[in-house]
Amino acid sequence: MAYNLLKGKRGIISGALNEESIAWKVALKAHEEGAEIVLTNAPLAMRMGEINKLAETCNAQIIPADATSVEDLENLFSKSTEILGGKIDFVLHSIGMSPNIRKGKNYGDLNYDWFQKTLDISALSFHKMMAVAEKQDAMNEWGSIVALSYIAAQRVFPDYTDMSQAKAVLESIARNYGYRFAKLKNVRVNTISQSPTMTTAGSGVGGFDAFFEYANKMSPLGNASAEDCANYCIMMFSDLTRKVTMQNLMHDGGFSSTGITEDIVEMISPKQ
Ligand code: NAI
Repeated sequence: MAYNLLKGKRGIISGALNEESIAWKVALKAHEEGAEIVLTNAPLAMRMGEINKLAETCNAQIIPADATSVEDLENLFSKSTEILGGKIDFVLHSIGMSPNIRKGKNYGDLNYDWFQKTLDISALSFHKMMAVAEKQDAMNEWGSIVALSYIAAQRVFPDYTDMSQAKAVLESIARNYGYRFAKLKNVRVNTISQSPTMTTAGSGVGGFDAFFEYANKMSPLGNASAEDCANYCIMMFSDLTRKVTMQNLMHDGGFSSTGITEDIVEMISPKQ
């Protein structure tokens, strides 16, 4: 059911790779809620072509941008304001990739060039996006910017390796740019810390199925799905959350506040 929460708003949504992507669901819901959007992803990711289906459904244009390239991001923001016919009200950063995870490197054996790539793609890109938006004065007053994070920023999940540091940097950028953008334009900046979710990026992490199941059993409400996450993003883009900023918002079915659950006890208790 749609509530017209984003009626008249203009947004940029990054990171929709396929139907499983969290950004894909956010784009569908933003469209349903009345927003005009532009989609973006890395030029390489677009070769798969799936994003065209989404663009058609959402009546959106696609602007390729490698999120590590300031030049690409400048083009993204200037074209978006042109296409959408005005300043931007919301931005979703839904971008993450670690070459070390892809290549199965363990934490004691990281390739440092790849580590820097992980940080650049998954965290610094968020700073670059906001710096470009600021310099072009592309954000509307009371706009909202959201990036997606994971609890490995605060706690150890061994297989998440260098992405843990990337998420810690991402959350810190949200706080620091959140302060700056609030003072400049009343724009809010937050991260949503999402449950493990079955997507291309998610399932690339070693032992993901066990990871997913464990989190599900440790969360009194169960894992939050990609669709649940999209609903939360829409609320954050809406006018109902104007004074929420510089936060890392846990969206995890209660996982982060839970010590143990009956489900876990049952799982590891010896059978009688
Ligand atoms: P996904 O694989 O569908 O999305 C990741 C996106 O990042 C892809 O669309 C990919 O093309 C894009 N990307 C990679 N390098 C890029 C670059 N250089 N420039 C522009 N885009 C680039 O997976 P998912 O899960 O939807 O990921 C979205 C966000 O959610 C990521 O930040 C991820 O870390 C975060 N997240 C995911 C969780 C999960 O378990 N799936 C849990 C918590 C957070």
